[in-house]
Amino acid sequence: MPQDATREDLLSLTQKLLNAISAADWKTYEQLCDPSLTCFEPEARGHLVEGLGFHRYYFDLGASKSAVNITMVEPHVRVMGDVAVVSYVRLVQKLGPDSAPVTSQCEETRVWQRRGDAWRHVHFHRSLP
Ligand code: GLY
Repeated sequence: MPQDATREDLLSLTQKLLNAISAADWKTYEQLCDPSLTCFEPEARGHLVEGLGFHRYYFDLGASKSAVNITMVEPHVRVMGDVAVVSYVRLVQKLGPDSAPVTSQCEETRVWQRRGDAWRHVHFHRSLP
């Protein structure tokens, strides 16, 4: 088990990252990510994407107009020296087209690397159920 403070730091950073994605807050997202971020996510259609440009496209579209709430369910944190892996199911609550609340879910693994005092996001993998 990672030390409690490290675990809490990583969970807080990951929540901040997810909130930035939801709010289309590019400045915060860019600050948390390494420029060479790699990922597999459904939007990439089975390809490994490297760099931030692919993600910037979605931020430039703007945030959802409705309130959004993001929950990491049963997050697991594994720290291996200067690298950490955070895995969880992400629940997203928002209003659907008919203004009724809907919840979507996906599985995510996010990899962080510590550089000095700061953790930077270096890789993630998102799968749909
Ligand atoms: N698609 C951006 C992210 O999940 O980090």
